[in-house]
Amino acid sequence: MRYMGLLQTYRDYLPVTDATPLLTLQEGNTPLVRAEKLSDELDLDVYFKYEGLNPTGSFKDRGMVMAVAKAMEEGSRTIMCASTGNTSAAAAAYAARGNLNCIVLIPNNNIALGKLAQAIIYGAKVIAIEGNFDRALEIVREITAKHPITLVNSVNPYRIEGQKTAAFEVVDQLGKAPDFLAIPVGNAGNITAYWKGFKEYHAKGRSSSLPKMIGFEAEGAMAIVKGEPIKNPETIATAIRIGNPASWDSAVNAANESGGQINYVTDEEILHAYRTIASKEGIFAEPASAASIAGVMKLKKEGYFRGGESVVCVLTGHGLKDPNIAIKSVSAEPVLVKDTEQDVMEAISRLEAQ
Ligand code: F0G
Repeated sequence: MRYMGLLQTYRDYLPVTDATPLLTLQEGNTPLVRAEKLSDELDLDVYFKYEGLNPTGSFKDRGMVMAVAKAMEEGSRTIMCASTGNTSAAAAAYAARGNLNCIVLIPNNNIALGKLAQAIIYGAKVIAIEGNFDRALEIVREITAKHPITLVNSVNPYRIEGQKTAAFEVVDQLGKAPDFLAIPVGNAGNITAYWKGFKEYHAKGRSSSLPKMIGFEAEGAMAIVKGEPIKNPETIATAIRIGNPASWDSAVNAANESGGQINYVTDEEILHAYRTIASKEGIFAEPASAASIAGVMKLKKEGYFRGGESVVCVLTGHGLKDPNIAIKSVSAEPVLVKDTEQDVMEAISRLEAQ
Protein backbone atom coordinates (compact mmCIF):
# COMPACT_ATOMS: atom_id res chain seq x y z
CA MET A 1 0.00 0.00 0.00
CA ARG A 2 1.21 3.50 -0.78
CA TYR A 3 2.75 5.24 2.23
CA MET A 4 0.56 8.23 3.10
CA GLY A 5 2.79 10.21 5.48
CA LEU A 6 2.82 10.64 9.23
CA LEU A 7 -0.54 12.28 9.87
CA GLN A 8 -2.45 9.42 8.26
CA THR A 9 -0.20 6.59 9.39
CA TYR A 10 -0.19 7.61 13.07
CA ARG A 11 -3.53 9.41 13.14
CA ASP A 12 -4.66 7.54 16.28
CA TYR A 13 -1.59 8.67 18.19
CA LEU A 14 -1.64 12.30 17.02
CA PRO A 15 -3.87 15.35 17.60
CA VAL A 16 -5.41 14.84 14.15
CA THR A 17 -9.12 15.71 13.96
CA ASP A 18 -11.58 15.70 11.07
CA ALA A 19 -10.69 19.37 10.61
CA THR A 20 -6.94 18.76 10.35
CA PRO A 21 -5.63 18.93 6.77
CA LEU A 22 -3.71 15.75 5.97
CA LEU A 23 -0.67 17.66 4.83
CA THR A 24 2.25 15.51 3.71
CA LEU A 25 5.52 15.39 1.81
CA GLN A 26 5.76 11.68 2.65
CA GLU A 27 7.85 12.42 5.73
CA GLY A 28 8.80 9.67 8.15
CA ASN A 29 9.14 5.97 7.28
CA THR A 30 12.92 6.40 7.33
CA PRO A 31 15.26 3.39 7.29
CA LEU A 32 16.80 1.75 10.32
CA VAL A 33 20.18 0.66 8.98
CA ARG A 34 22.39 -1.76 10.90
CA ALA A 35 25.98 -0.59 11.41
CA GLU A 36 27.74 -3.77 10.37
CA LYS A 37 31.35 -2.88 11.10
CA LEU A 38 30.77 -0.67 14.11
CA SER A 39 28.60 -3.32 15.74
CA ASP A 40 31.53 -5.74 15.56
CA GLU A 41 34.07 -3.17 16.68
CA LEU A 42 32.02 -1.94 19.62
CA ASP A 43 30.62 -5.35 20.57
CA LEU A 44 27.12 -3.90 20.36
CA ASP A 45 24.15 -4.26 18.03
CA VAL A 46 24.20 -0.76 16.53
CA TYR A 47 21.56 0.74 14.22
CA PHE A 48 21.18 4.11 12.60
CA LYS A 49 17.78 5.75 12.40
CA TYR A 50 18.59 7.63 9.22
CA GLU A 51 16.50 10.77 9.53
CA GLY A 52 18.48 12.51 6.81
CA LEU A 53 16.22 10.70 4.35
CA ASN A 54 13.20 12.81 5.24
CA PRO A 55 11.88 15.15 2.50
CA THR A 56 13.93 18.17 3.59
CA GLY A 57 16.81 16.05 4.87
CA SER A 58 16.20 16.09 8.62
CA PHE A 59 13.94 14.83 11.40
CA LYS A 60 12.35 18.26 11.63
CA ASP A 61 9.83 17.27 8.94
CA ARG A 62 8.06 14.98 11.41
CA GLY A 63 7.26 17.79 13.82
CA MET A 64 6.77 20.42 11.17
CA VAL A 65 4.07 18.54 9.25
CA MET A 66 2.04 18.34 12.46
CA ALA A 67 2.67 21.95 13.52
CA VAL A 68 1.89 23.37 10.09
CA ALA A 69 -1.25 21.23 9.68
CA LYS A 70 -2.52 22.53 13.02
CA ALA A 71 -1.62 26.11 12.09
CA MET A 72 -3.70 25.67 8.92
CA GLU A 73 -6.56 24.12 10.88
CA GLU A 74 -6.53 27.13 13.20
CA GLY A 75 -6.66 29.53 10.26
CA SER A 76 -3.16 30.91 10.69
CA ARG A 77 -1.65 32.64 7.66
CA THR A 78 1.98 32.91 8.79
CA ILE A 79 4.43 30.73 10.68
CA MET A 80 7.75 31.76 12.20
CA CYS A 81 10.75 30.06 13.77
CA ALA A 82 14.30 30.59 14.96
CA SER A 83 16.67 28.03 13.56
CA THR A 84 20.18 26.71 13.27
CA GLY A 85 19.03 25.67 9.79
CA ASN A 86 17.04 22.46 9.68
CA THR A 87 13.91 23.77 11.34
CA SER A 88 13.86 26.67 8.90
CA ALA A 89 14.21 24.33 5.92
CA ALA A 90 11.32 22.18 7.14
CA ALA A 91 9.14 25.18 8.05
CA ALA A 92 9.74 26.76 4.65
CA ALA A 93 8.90 23.54 2.78
CA TYR A 94 5.67 22.79 4.64
CA ALA A 95 4.61 26.44 4.50
CA ALA A 96 5.04 26.28 0.72
CA ARG A 97 3.02 23.08 0.60
CA GLY A 98 0.25 24.51 2.79
CA ASN A 99 0.18 28.01 1.23
CA LEU A 100 1.33 29.80 4.38
CA ASN A 101 3.85 32.58 4.73
CA CYS A 102 7.03 31.64 6.52
CA ILE A 103 9.52 33.85 8.36
CA VAL A 104 12.77 32.38 9.68
CA LEU A 105 15.36 33.93 11.96
CA ILE A 106 18.85 32.49 11.72
CA PRO A 107 22.19 33.25 13.39
CA ASN A 108 24.31 35.06 10.80
CA ASN A 109 27.21 33.00 9.38
CA ASN A 110 26.35 30.02 11.54
CA ILE A 111 24.08 27.90 9.44
CA ALA A 112 25.20 25.31 6.92
CA LEU A 113 25.03 26.26 3.25
CA GLY A 114 22.52 23.59 2.20
CA LYS A 115 20.05 24.64 4.88
CA LEU A 116 20.19 28.29 3.87
CA ALA A 117 19.67 27.29 0.24
CA GLN A 118 16.57 25.32 1.22
CA ALA A 119 14.91 28.11 3.20
CA ILE A 120 15.48 30.51 0.31
CA ILE A 121 14.33 28.26 -2.52
CA TYR A 122 11.16 27.19 -0.68
CA GLY A 123 10.30 30.88 -0.50
CA ALA A 124 10.65 31.77 3.19
CA LYS A 125 11.49 35.28 4.31
CA VAL A 126 14.95 34.73 5.74
CA ILE A 127 16.33 37.16 8.31
CA ALA A 128 19.82 36.74 9.72
CA ILE A 129 20.53 38.30 13.12
CA GLU A 130 23.83 39.17 14.70
CA GLY A 131 23.03 37.13 17.81
CA ASN A 132 22.99 33.35 18.18
CA PHE A 133 20.14 30.81 18.08
CA ASP A 134 19.14 31.40 21.70
CA ARG A 135 18.69 35.11 21.05
CA ALA A 136 16.79 34.40 17.82
CA LEU A 137 14.36 32.16 19.72
CA GLU A 138 13.78 34.85 22.35
CA ILE A 139 12.89 37.35 19.60
CA VAL A 140 10.59 34.88 17.85
CA ARG A 141 8.78 34.19 21.12
CA GLU A 142 8.31 37.92 21.70
CA ILE A 143 7.00 38.60 18.20
CA THR A 144 4.65 35.59 18.00
CA ALA A 145 3.19 36.46 21.42
CA LYS A 146 2.16 39.89 20.11
CA HIS A 147 1.19 39.20 16.50
CA PRO A 148 -1.05 36.69 14.71
CA ILE A 149 1.90 34.53 13.70
CA THR A 150 2.26 30.87 14.68
CA LEU A 151 5.46 29.87 16.43
CA VAL A 152 6.75 26.57 15.00
CA ASN A 153 9.84 25.94 17.11
CA SER A 154 9.72 22.82 19.25
CA VAL A 155 8.22 24.79 22.16
CA ASN A 156 5.08 24.39 20.04
CA PRO A 157 3.73 21.10 21.48
CA TYR A 158 2.56 19.89 18.04
CA ARG A 159 6.21 19.68 17.00
CA ILE A 160 6.92 17.18 19.78
CA GLU A 161 3.79 15.23 18.88
CA GLY A 162 4.96 14.79 15.29
CA GLN A 163 8.53 13.98 16.25
CA LYS A 164 7.53 11.22 18.66
CA THR A 165 6.53 9.09 15.64
CA ALA A 166 10.20 8.28 15.09
CA ALA A 167 10.15 6.24 18.31
CA PHE A 168 7.14 4.28 16.99
CA GLU A 169 9.03 3.46 13.81
CA VAL A 170 12.12 2.35 15.71
CA VAL A 171 10.05 -0.12 17.75
CA ASP A 172 8.23 -1.42 14.66
CA GLN A 173 11.42 -1.77 12.62
CA LEU A 174 13.45 -3.45 15.35
CA GLY A 175 10.52 -5.53 16.59
CA LYS A 176 11.15 -4.21 20.10
CA ALA A 177 12.40 -1.13 21.90
CA PRO A 178 16.22 -0.98 21.78
CA ASP A 179 18.23 -1.18 24.99
CA PHE A 180 19.62 2.32 24.33
CA LEU A 181 18.55 5.27 22.20
CA ALA A 182 21.48 7.60 21.46
CA ILE A 183 20.63 11.08 20.26
CA PRO A 184 22.22 14.52 19.75
CA VAL A 185 20.87 17.23 22.04
CA GLY A 186 20.55 20.86 20.95
CA ASN A 187 17.38 22.63 21.93
CA ALA A 188 16.37 19.28 23.49
CA GLY A 189 13.03 18.85 21.73
CA ASN A 190 13.90 15.62 19.98
CA ILE A 191 15.03 13.63 23.03
CA THR A 192 11.81 14.83 24.68
CA ALA A 193 9.77 13.63 21.70
CA TYR A 194 11.42 10.20 21.46
CA TRP A 195 10.91 9.53 25.14
CA LYS A 196 7.25 10.54 24.89
CA GLY A 197 6.88 8.26 21.85
CA PHE A 198 8.51 5.25 23.50
CA LYS A 199 6.36 5.65 26.60
CA GLU A 200 3.13 5.99 24.63
CA TYR A 201 3.86 2.95 22.46
CA HIS A 202 4.76 0.96 25.55
CA ALA A 203 1.56 2.02 27.30
CA LYS A 204 -0.43 0.80 24.28
CA GLY A 205 1.31 -2.57 24.50
CA ARG A 206 3.34 -2.09 21.32
CA SER A 207 6.65 -2.76 23.12
CA SER A 208 7.45 -4.70 26.24
CA SER A 209 10.32 -2.51 27.42
CA LEU A 210 11.67 1.03 27.28
CA PRO A 211 15.12 2.16 26.12
CA LYS A 212 17.63 4.05 28.22
CA MET A 213 17.89 7.50 26.66
CA ILE A 214 21.47 8.70 26.17
CA GLY A 215 21.72 12.25 24.85
CA PHE A 216 24.85 14.08 23.76
CA GLU A 217 25.54 17.80 23.65
CA ALA A 218 28.57 19.29 21.94
CA GLU A 219 31.28 20.18 24.45
CA GLY A 220 31.24 23.89 23.61
CA ALA A 221 27.47 24.01 24.03
CA MET A 222 26.94 21.63 26.96
CA ALA A 223 24.53 23.68 29.02
CA ILE A 224 22.63 20.71 30.46
CA VAL A 225 25.82 18.80 31.31
CA LYS A 226 27.21 21.90 33.06
CA GLY A 227 23.91 22.75 34.69
CA GLU A 228 23.92 26.36 33.47
CA PRO A 229 23.19 28.23 30.23
CA ILE A 230 26.19 28.96 28.02
CA LYS A 231 26.36 32.53 26.80
CA ASN A 232 28.49 31.97 23.72
CA PRO A 233 28.09 28.34 22.61
CA GLU A 234 30.61 27.14 20.04
CA THR A 235 30.85 23.91 18.07
CA ILE A 236 31.58 22.74 14.56
CA ALA A 237 28.16 21.06 14.69
CA THR A 238 26.26 24.31 14.06
CA ALA A 239 22.89 22.52 14.26
CA ILE A 240 23.39 22.06 18.02
CA ARG A 241 25.20 25.33 18.73
CA ILE A 242 22.68 26.19 21.43
CA GLY A 243 23.44 27.54 24.89
CA ASN A 244 20.05 27.54 26.59
CA PRO A 245 17.91 24.60 25.44
CA ALA A 246 14.18 25.34 25.53
CA SER A 247 13.24 21.76 26.50
CA TRP A 248 15.97 21.48 29.14
CA ASP A 249 13.80 20.04 31.94
CA SER A 250 12.08 17.44 29.80
CA ALA A 251 15.44 16.30 28.40
CA VAL A 252 16.78 15.80 31.92
CA ASN A 253 13.57 14.00 32.78
CA ALA A 254 13.91 11.67 29.77
CA ALA A 255 17.46 10.76 30.80
CA ASN A 256 16.61 10.28 34.48
CA GLU A 257 13.30 8.50 34.09
CA SER A 258 14.76 6.05 31.56
CA GLY A 259 17.93 5.40 33.53
CA GLY A 260 20.10 6.98 30.82
CA GLN A 261 22.12 10.18 30.87
CA ILE A 262 22.95 13.48 29.16
CA ASN A 263 26.63 13.57 28.30
CA TYR A 264 28.84 15.48 25.86
CA VAL A 265 31.24 14.92 22.98
CA THR A 266 34.08 17.10 21.69
CA ASP A 267 34.22 18.49 18.15
CA GLU A 268 37.10 16.11 17.49
CA GLU A 269 35.00 13.12 18.58
CA ILE A 270 32.10 14.37 16.44
CA LEU A 271 34.29 14.70 13.33
CA HIS A 272 35.89 11.30 13.90
CA ALA A 273 32.46 9.64 14.15
CA TYR A 274 31.24 11.67 11.15
CA ARG A 275 34.05 10.42 8.93
CA THR A 276 33.84 6.87 10.28
CA ILE A 277 30.16 6.29 9.53
CA ALA A 278 30.63 7.70 6.03
CA SER A 279 33.79 5.78 5.14
CA LYS A 280 33.02 2.51 6.95
CA GLU A 281 29.25 2.25 6.81
CA GLY A 282 28.40 4.28 3.71
CA ILE A 283 26.18 6.68 5.59
CA PHE A 284 26.56 10.43 5.25
CA ALA A 285 25.03 12.40 8.09
CA GLU A 286 25.70 15.97 9.15
CA PRO A 287 28.16 16.63 12.00
CA ALA A 288 25.52 17.24 14.69
CA SER A 289 23.99 13.86 13.87
CA ALA A 290 27.30 12.14 14.42
CA ALA A 291 27.19 13.26 18.05
CA SER A 292 24.98 10.24 18.75
CA ILE A 293 27.47 7.65 17.51
CA ALA A 294 30.41 9.69 18.88
CA GLY A 295 28.72 9.48 22.26
CA VAL A 296 28.30 5.72 22.00
CA MET A 297 31.99 5.36 21.10
CA LYS A 298 32.92 7.48 24.12
CA LEU A 299 30.73 5.52 26.54
CA LYS A 300 32.07 2.26 25.13
CA LYS A 301 35.62 3.37 26.02
CA GLU A 302 34.44 4.25 29.52
CA GLY A 303 33.05 0.72 30.01
CA TYR A 304 29.42 1.84 30.12
CA PHE A 305 28.05 -1.12 28.13
CA ARG A 306 28.02 -4.81 29.13
CA GLY A 307 28.33 -5.98 25.52
CA GLY A 308 25.78 -7.12 22.97
CA GLU A 309 23.10 -4.53 23.80
CA SER A 310 21.01 -3.00 21.03
CA VAL A 311 21.73 0.69 20.48
CA VAL A 312 19.84 2.90 18.04
CA CYS A 313 21.72 6.06 17.09
CA VAL A 314 19.55 8.80 15.65
CA LEU A 315 21.20 10.40 12.62
CA THR A 316 19.19 13.58 12.62
CA GLY A 317 20.23 15.27 9.36
CA HIS A 318 21.71 14.47 5.96
CA GLY A 319 25.41 15.01 5.30
CA LEU A 320 24.72 17.05 2.17
CA LYS A 321 23.30 19.79 4.36
CA ASP A 322 26.82 20.87 5.17
CA PRO A 323 29.11 20.13 2.21
CA ASN A 324 31.78 22.59 3.34
CA ILE A 325 32.52 20.62 6.49
CA ALA A 326 32.83 17.40 4.50
CA ILE A 327 35.40 18.87 2.14
CA LYS A 328 37.32 20.61 4.93
CA SER A 329 37.41 17.58 7.19
CA VAL A 330 39.25 15.23 4.85
CA SER A 331 42.86 15.64 3.82
CA ALA A 332 42.36 14.60 0.20
CA GLU A 333 40.75 17.15 -2.08
CA PRO A 334 40.31 16.01 -5.69
CA VAL A 335 43.57 16.08 -7.68
CA LEU A 336 43.46 18.01 -10.95
CA VAL A 337 45.17 16.40 -13.94
CA LYS A 338 45.22 16.77 -17.73
CA ASP A 339 42.39 15.06 -19.61
CA THR A 340 44.30 12.07 -20.93
CA GLU A 341 44.08 8.40 -20.02
CA GLN A 342 47.76 8.40 -19.13
CA ASP A 343 47.51 11.35 -16.74
CA VAL A 344 44.49 9.82 -15.03
CA MET A 345 46.27 6.44 -14.66
CA GLU A 346 49.33 8.18 -13.17
CA ALA A 347 47.09 10.03 -10.72
CA ILE A 348 45.49 6.74 -9.67
CA SER A 349 48.94 5.25 -9.03
CA ARG A 350 49.97 8.26 -6.95
CA LEU A 351 46.76 8.07 -4.91
CA GLU A 352 47.16 4.33 -4.36
CA ALA A 353 50.71 4.83 -3.18
CA GLN A 354 49.62 7.33 -0.51
N1 F0G B 1 20.58 17.34 14.90
C1 F0G B 1 20.28 18.22 13.93
C2 F0G B 1 20.74 17.92 12.55
C3 F0G B 1 19.54 19.38 14.23
O1 F0G B 1 19.25 20.23 13.26
C4 F0G B 1 19.15 19.62 15.57
C5 F0G B 1 18.41 20.81 15.93
C6 F0G B 1 19.47 18.65 16.53
C7 F0G B 1 20.19 17.54 16.15
C8 F0G B 1 19.08 18.79 17.94
O2 F0G B 1 17.74 18.55 18.14
O3 F0G B 1 17.14 20.72 19.15
O4 F0G B 1 15.59 18.78 19.25
O5 F0G B 1 17.70 18.79 20.58
N2 F0G B 1 18.21 21.79 15.15
C9 F0G B 1 17.34 22.94 15.42
C10 F0G B 1 17.15 23.77 14.18
C11 F0G B 1 17.73 23.70 16.60
O6 F0G B 1 16.91 24.98 14.28
O7 F0G B 1 17.21 23.21 13.09
P1 F0G B 1 16.99 19.25 19.36
